[in-house]
Amino acid sequence: MQDVAWDKSMSVGVEVLDDDHRKLLDMFNGLLKAGIAEKDRASLSGLLGGLREYTTVHFAREEMLMEQQGYPGLDTHRAAHRYFIDEVQKLCLDDDDSNEMMLRIDLILLLKEWFIEHIQSVDKQYSPFMAEDTGNGATH
Ligand SMILES: [Fe+2]
Repeated sequence: MQDVAWDKSMSVGVEVLDDDHRKLLDMFNGLLKAGIAEKDRASLSGLLGGLREYTTVHFAREEMLMEQQGYPGLDTHRAAHRYFIDEVQKLCLDDDDSNEMMLRIDLILLLKEWFIEHIQSVDKQYSPFMAEDTGNGATH
């Protein structure tokens, strides 16, 4: 699970969003590697901060596209995004000195699983509403 990266089975049919998902999964993998290698707290905080920022950028992009297409499930989808950002934020704030690195890694793994599940079940529901102009029936 730890090294699961983006693959075509996760495609939502919108290249820019697929690119975001790929990048976020890579960021999760980098974070897990750093956590397991017991990198110092500053490095992990930097990586977590980067994940939080890119997640925010990505969700805003995804929500804007759903809105543009009049996607009917937008409100529920937006709520799922808020939940995820709150969880990442909690992880960023969890900065006490106790040795909770393993707990932190478990939480990062759980968030990564949540994210993959979100792509595969929730994100894919908007695919039919956001079919890109190019590529429709453009097989050789
Ligand atoms: Fe989403």
